Amino acid sequence: MEKSRSYAPEISRLESLQHVPIIGMIQEVVKSHGHDAYIIGGFVRDTLLGREVKDIDIVTIGSGVDLAHLIAKEMGGLDVHVFKRFGTAMIKKGEYELEFVGARKESYRSESRKPIVEDGSLEDDQNRRDFTINALALDLNKDLELVDPFKGLHDLENGIIRTPLDPDRTFSDDPLRMMRAIRFATQLRFRIEENSFRSIKKNAHRISIVSKERIIDELNKIILCPIPSIGFKMLMSTGLLEIIFPEMVALKGVERRKGIGHKDNFYHTLEVLDNICESTDDLYLRWAAIMHDIAKPRTKRFDPKAGWTFHGHEDKGARMVPKIFRRLKLPLDHKMKFVQKMVLLHLRPIALTKEEITDSAIRRLLFDAGEDIDALMKLCRADITSKNEAKVKRYLKNYDLVIEKLAEVEEKDRVRNWQPPITGELIMNTFGIGPGREIGIIKNEIKESILDGIIENDYDQAYQLMLKKGEELGLAPVEN
Ligand code: CTP
Repeated sequence: MEKSRSYAPEISRLESLQHVPIIGMIQEVVKSHGHDAYIIGGFVRDTLLGREVKDIDIVTIGSGVDLAHLIAKEMGGLDVHVFKRFGTAMIKKGEYELEFVGARKESYRSESRKPIVEDGSLEDDQNRRDFTINALALDLNKDLELVDPFKGLHDLENGIIRTPLDPDRTFSDDPLRMMRAIRFATQLRFRIEENSFRSIKKNAHRISIVSKERIIDELNKIILCPIPSIGFKMLMSTGLLEIIFPEMVALKGVERRKGIGHKDNFYHTLEVLDNICESTDDLYLRWAAIMHDIAKPRTKRFDPKAGWTFHGHEDKGARMVPKIFRRLKLPLDHKMKFVQKMVLLHLRPIALTKEEITDSAIRRLLFDAGEDIDALMKLCRADITSKNEAKVKRYLKNYDLVIEKLAEVEEKDRVRNWQPPITGELIMNTFGIGPGREIGIIKNEIKESILDGIIENDYDQAYQLMLKKGEELGLAPVEN
């Protein structure tokens, strides 16, 4: 896989900041009131890399909140949002978000039991940041001169993630930084410097003190990268994945019996994930790719005749989804249901091709997948991975066949998002009965008959069938 870096820093991009009006305004206020303040962190990094960025972090020697009030006033009385717990303040101006903080000496995050102190120097503040590329600062008093004590620019140029201080200390200040290192490496296609990487391995267990919400935020950012497998392989090799998502680690490995092995389902899952990223930015379809084979370890059997089987892994996998979502603090709403549906149905389209593809099988697939049929087909397409080219060719041919058939049947019958034409209410009114089991029986008969192609998806034909089935059940229509 191509691993070239996506971004290259250019120092000239800093000069262009002089023409950004909001930066000019901030510089003016800072200078005219004699404040010592700097733009720092992600804004500097991303500007150098040519990535669009609207969040500006400003660190000042003294009170960040005071500087925020001053700037808000000078900008025509903007609202200042003060976060007392963090000692920070925020102003929104157009599409920009300005965050102000006083330079600090002590540990960075709220998890820290140490008090927040606001009496550090710029250097103190840079010291306790996560990576050299995130510790770059621009002096607002000196025409945005770069303040770079840890050679962050050099690391940006060489694509290196490195902690400013001893990594054990940086990661112990906030263990989430171990995941941030992997996230930045995946996003920017940088490599994590050896010392920092070793320290992540050593301190991986400390991730358990970080809140699930912060962890999932970072994991989702990795999943949203163009090639998420880069990050997952690092999460695996550092031991972080074992702690945050052991079900995925269980996919790894190949067992052999009687000379027969099976796919390594971890690497297969990563291939499917990378594949699907080429056709979707949807986080939850990407999650579906991650989860599609999640129950394979639990359903694995060796059959002397058939070899390795994973019968029912789609069903068991779908049932595992809610538990995993709950634990990871992923949403438990329609997004979870969507992932469940994808996992449950992921074998269906290709399984169809084992026999002749009938219209009725296609209608059932359309009915079961509903509006998510396109997503399901993307997942199926991404799931075609094999080292055997002939196999891949054959599967792709089958896949194309299903796509063709789907379009044909959809055009003819419009089953997607389909609701059976006869409602329970109509059945009750027709036969003058109240709610009861007959309603379900009649509705089901109509649905099955349409899906099987016995009658068409048409109101009159369905109405006739309702009368017939009602008669069989001893019901007679009432006069209205
Ligand atoms: N930071 C840190 N440790 C953390 C989080 C943040 O040292 N655990 C510092 C870094 O200097 C970072 C800055 O705070 O650049 C801002 O953090 P944040 O907004 O979370 O990240 P960005 O670096 O701006 O990147 P992104 O927006 O991609 O998350």
